[in-house]
Amino acid sequence: MALRYLTGGESHGPSLAVIIDGLPAGLVVSADMINRDLARRQSGYGRGGRMKVEKDRARIISGVRLGVTLGSPVSVLIENKDHENWAASMSPVASDDDRPEKETRPRPGHGDLAGMLKYGTLDARDILERASARETAARTVAGSLARVLLESFGIKVASRVVRIGGVEVQREPVMDLKGFVDVDEDVVRCADKEVSWKMVEEIEKAAESGDSVGGVFEVAAFGLMPGLGSMAQHDRRLDGRLAGALASIPGIKGVETGDGFSLAGVWGSRAHDEILYESARGIERKTNRAGGLEAGMTNGEPLVLRAAMKPIPSLRRPLSTVDMGTLERVDAFRERADVCAVPAASVVGEAAVCFVLAEALCEKFGGDSLGEIERNVHGYLEGIKDFFKPPE
Ligand SMILES: Cc1cc2nc3c(=O)[nH]c(=O)nc-3n(C[C@H](O)[C@H](O)[C@H](O)COP(=O)(O)O)c2cc1C
Repeated sequence: MALRYLTGGESHGPSLAVIIDGLPAGLVVSADMINRDLARRQSGYGRGGRMKVEKDRARIISGVRLGVTLGSPVSVLIENKDHENWAASMSPVASDDDRPEKETRPRPGHGDLAGMLKYGTLDARDILERASARETAARTVAGSLARVLLESFGIKVASRVVRIGGVEVQREPVMDLKGFVDVDEDVVRCADKEVSWKMVEEIEKAAESGDSVGGVFEVAAFGLMPGLGSMAQHDRRLDGRLAGALASIPGIKGVETGDGFSLAGVWGSRAHDEILYESARGIERKTNRAGGLEAGMTNGEPLVLRAAMKPIPSLRRPLSTVDMGTLERVDAFRERADVCAVPAASVVGEAAVCFVLAEALCEKFGGDSLGEIERNVHGYLEGIKDFFKPPE
């Protein structure tokens, strides 16, 4: 395992924590840089009240000295500002006061019911505090640090929202970063201004009727060298690892690599990317239907992934459930919620992809310091220079 991370922390507990193990020594990092990604994760039209309470800030507590990684585990804390409103009911310390009232009405679409059965509790809060997507702030930190490593090699990872509910951007091949540069300025992180307004209307319509709405986002990576990942074992294939990282984001129900699902409907002659050679440019492709991955390895083309997010399951007009104490039919309990979190999820998706790519980079070019990895990357690129020309 070349690079890994673990997170801890409950949604309304004192803090979230993340430990990233395996980052090389020599990366220039700062809390400000991580905070930019945390702020991007908090943005997006359709977010609920919680994001007004929180202003996520990373506190680096290990693995970095004088702004540079040491090669030791990097630990980061993010304080939950909302904890002060939950200090009694989320205290790690047993209190003499009565236990807060149990939340016995599991919400459909959440982990409440399965978790209550699995962990033997009648209080959904014991489950939902950790199942909450608040945890994705900690993942974003891991992705942000992974991004620093990738960018040292000119690899850029970006994302954008391509669908909210029934409003969709017309699909076009992803060739370069151009279609991603300004999306952070857009309220729904959509690259098409006309469509963006329609997406906002879609969110407003859902909000007015006490409902929620999902969508699709795209994550792309540019400047990748061929050969990250491997066809040699199921768990080394990068397609599976990337899909897994995206599918593990709360609310994500489908992941597509390249043209993905639509490839199932065309003939083979229209489904693949023919290999061409031109001496100045080396090996090249005119199409990128595979989304930059063949047999679980990067092939030197842009990586293109899409993820579908279901509508937020906590609704202002709650769905039916069963009270686990009385077994009566009741309304699910209500927790403050977003109406749409697809823009935020796209930032988390970016982080997830950054981490898997950085992990694959460390596996192939492993080294304890950035300098060592650089030497290995340059040696590899030198070896394939007649075929693969890195983008300028
Ligand atoms: C950034 C982000 C924010 C989310 N915000 C909410 C929310 O406010 N309310 C909610 O019910 N679900 C929210 N979700 C989705 C739930 O966390 C998720 O649907 C739930 O944990 C069940 O997991 P599953 O949908 O993967 O099965 C959010 C997801 C993400 C990625």
